[in-house]
Amino acid sequence: MSKKPEFTDRLLSLGLARVSEAAAIESAKLIGGGDEKAADQVAVNAMREQLNLLDIQGTVVIGEGERDEAPMLFIGEEVGSGKGPEVDIALDPLEGTTLTAKDMPNALTVISMAPRGTMLHAPDVYMDKLAIGPGFDEGVVTLDMTPTQRVEALAKAKGCKPSDLMLCVLERERHDEMIKELRATGARIRLITDGDVAAVMHCAEPDLTGIDMYMGSGGAPEGVLAASALKCMGGQIQGRLLFRNDDERGRAERAGITDFNRIYTRDDMVRADVIFAATGVTNGSLVSGARDNGRYIETETLLMRSKTQSVRRIHYRQKI
Ligand code: FBP
Repeated sequence: MSKKPEFTDRLLSLGLARVSEAAAIESAKLIGGGDEKAADQVAVNAMREQLNLLDIQGTVVIGEGERDEAPMLFIGEEVGSGKGPEVDIALDPLEGTTLTAKDMPNALTVISMAPRGTMLHAPDVYMDKLAIGPGFDEGVVTLDMTPTQRVEALAKAKGCKPSDLMLCVLERERHDEMIKELRATGARIRLITDGDVAAVMHCAEPDLTGIDMYMGSGGAPEGVLAASALKCMGGQIQGRLLFRNDDERGRAERAGITDFNRIYTRDDMVRADVIFAATGVTNGSLVSGARDNGRYIETETLLMRSKTQSVRRIHYRQKI
């Protein structure tokens, strides 16, 4: 019996960078154009084309939506050349469609890959999320704590005052109460309009980004991508699925989820070693956006492997 090809994370990682670069190059052409859908579509096309060049038997587990909603990169779509290891793929060809359309910071193209059957098949519902960077005891802050308790616990662990902490929260009406409570602790808050994968990643590089903790609800698929990133960069994330109606509960059931109240840790969401790539579309605190000087297009990509916790910054230049 022939042996199944192994997940050659080291070799595959450069291919993954190519995938996220290609998507960023295409969507960057539409920065500031006011058309979210068009910016997303070109990223999807580019990502899919590049993915199909990789020697993998890939299945999209986090993608553009369920099969009947998304013609390309839908959940369950098989990608890759069909040769090579069987892998799970989580992707968001353009994380921050509105950020791109309006030329606002921190839009990224994002993709991660792990051995088949090791990633949470998160349905397209909301997830309550809580993330901090590396260097803290496991569970120092948890989703079961109130927002106030989380701030107090993190300030204690860091040996600082709540007012020394910078939190990051998506500015949404559903977060109004939580923001009010957080403000009462004295902690400062960076409110963002979109892009919580980048926001969670910001927690892993507090010296660069100034962010200590991320909390609030956003897309569950983005939660798995953020967990992939933190598995490589270090740091903790917890997530709990949130359901607004039976349709959303049905989506979870179809994804094989039975415990609707479960709190997922980073390693529950991504259960094996993972590789992760993110390329800047618009400028951000972690990576620069794609630039076009008329002769070249340049991109910056974070390429990471959890096995070695290696983080590479790749500057790529392509002649136009
Ligand atoms: P898009 O790139 O699909 O526009 O998503 C951006 C995003 O801000 C995510 O980062 C976040 O998880 C989600 O949308 C939040 O959803 P909502 O806008 O419904 O609050």
